[in-house]
Amino acid sequence: MPGLLEVEDLAVAYHTGGGPVWAARDLTFDVEGGEVVGLLGESGCGKSTLLLAILGLLPPSARVVKGAIRFRGRDLLGRPPSELRRVRGAEIAIVFQDPALALNPVRRVGAQVAEVLRAHRDQSGRRCRDDALSILAEVGFTPPDRVYDAYPHELSGGQRQRVVLAQALACRPALLLADEPTASLDSTTQAEVLGLIASLQSRLGLAVLMASHDLGALAAVARRVLVMYAGTLVETGTPAQVFGQPLHPYTRGLSLAYPRAAMRPGPPSRPVPIPGSPPDPANLPPGCAFEPRCPERRAVCVEQAP
Ligand SMILES: Nc1ncnc2c1ncn2[C@@H]1O[C@H](COP(=O)(O)OP(=O)(O)O)[C@@H](O)[C@H]1O
Ligand SMILES: [Mg+2]
Repeated sequence: MPGLLEVEDLAVAYHTGGGPVWAARDLTFDVEGGEVVGLLGESGCGKSTLLLAILGLLPPSARVVKGAIRFRGRDLLGRPPSELRRVRGAEIAIVFQDPALALNPVRRVGAQVAEVLRAHRDQSGRRCRDDALSILAEVGFTPPDRVYDAYPHELSGGQRQRVVLAQALACRPALLLADEPTASLDSTTQAEVLGLIASLQSRLGLAVLMASHDLGALAAVARRVLVMYAGTLVETGTPAQVFGQPLHPYTRGLSLAYPRAAMRPGPPSRPVPIPGSPPDPANLPPGCAFEPRCPERRAVCVEQAP
């Protein structure tokens, strides 16, 4: 049986005047129905580019140079905009990092949830309102009436992110893309939103692809983790494998850089940062992209990726 989402040999480049900026390359992975997959990587490694490519929301300067993005067995690339609009929001939804930017500041939040239903379902305004109220209750606003009439600025960051989740889940999508959904929240609120995502996921049988630079956040929800570096996948495995017995030197570096000792076997130790920074995607090294920073590099790594 094919996966719900299958990404095959995907490459995306931005064209901004100079040479191409290779934001994603050689990306192959899949997500099964109901599965929670984490996408781990430092800032700039291409997580957002990948998620936007899946939804067909890349900016005009970006080109999908090659590859396929199949959803339920059909390639999304090259589908007409009208067809993509039907998929987006209804079958695949996305939650972004900053809920304050995702919501319209001058409209009441309930109307913004009802609007999603109105765009995708042929049902009365009254029915959209009732459904929006029950979705707001599902994401933890009980009773939901008060929050329905609130403006985004009247809510806390965590409450706003719950409203954004309500919008994303309004049409019962099969796949939720989450782009650093807790990065703008304080740590208690982060835990609350992650808990909510996990409980909605299991209740609704939703598949989730969640990008984050935070090992802890991914370990809390993901069944499988994809480790991304310089636009490509370097390692995949269960959270226990990736964090406990990392194989790729980059994954080992990430695990050692994480401050929470609980993520690693053995006694608590101080976090050790990975020296240097990721390569410029407009100017990738010819061999392994991690070679310049790698404590285990050998001569061959300069010419070819292991
Ligand atoms: N609109 C754009 N124009 C040019 N380069 C971009 C654009 N958006 C992202 N990039 C580049 O693509 C790479 C990947 O970015 P992004 O997908 O945002 O990474 P992440 O989400 O992991 O932080 C980065 O080097 C970034 O500078
Ligand atoms: Mg990003």
